[in-house]
Amino acid sequence: MHSHLPTERRARHKRDQSIFHELLRRHEAIQREVEEIPNGIRARTWTTDADLVPLLHMHAKEMHKRVKEKFGLRFWDPAFAELFAQADKVEMSVTLTENGVDVFETSTDLNVVKLIRAHGAIVTAFVEHGGRAASQESPLPADYIRVL
Ligand code: HEM
Repeated sequence: MHSHLPTERRARHKRDQSIFHELLRRHEAIQREVEEIPNGIRARTWTTDADLVPLLHMHAKEMHKRVKEKFGLRFWDPAFAELFAQADKVEMSVTLTENGVDVFETSTDLNVVKLIRAHGAIVTAFVEHGGRAASQESPLPADYIRVL
């Protein structure tokens, strides 16, 4: 069972990658609003391009699954490495909407709340600047205490 897991994960990662690359390429057709709520964020992301709706749906679902499984990515980027390392302390709910996704992310750990807010802003930078933002290391707040 475990012997074929790495191959399966590689295939899954390739699928995930092709989806977020497509989202980055077409980032101008995507909009996003992040609102601070107690202990976290509510992030609404949507698109006016009907072709992109299934990609947004798949991306949010797959990433939620990856966080729960701690199947990390972008290990060179501390903000992402930390997010996966802190996954047990993150509560995430993903609702698919007609034009996109509505996500609530919270934590009872105030340090992790900082990370969640930073991550919300990082996804917003991806939406606003596409590949230009995704090719750079993402900002983490100076007062966030790293676990890695
Ligand atoms: C324009 C491009 C992208 C869009 C529109 C997008 C959209 C989203 C959305 C809506 C979520 C759900 C959480 C939230 O709303 O804050 C999410 C989560 C996530 N995305 Fe993306 N994303 C993009 C690019 C990327 C890229 C390039 C990567 C990685 C290389 C990535 C990795 C992740 C991960 C790991 C999560 C789950 C972590 C979390 O939100 O807690 N995304 N993304």
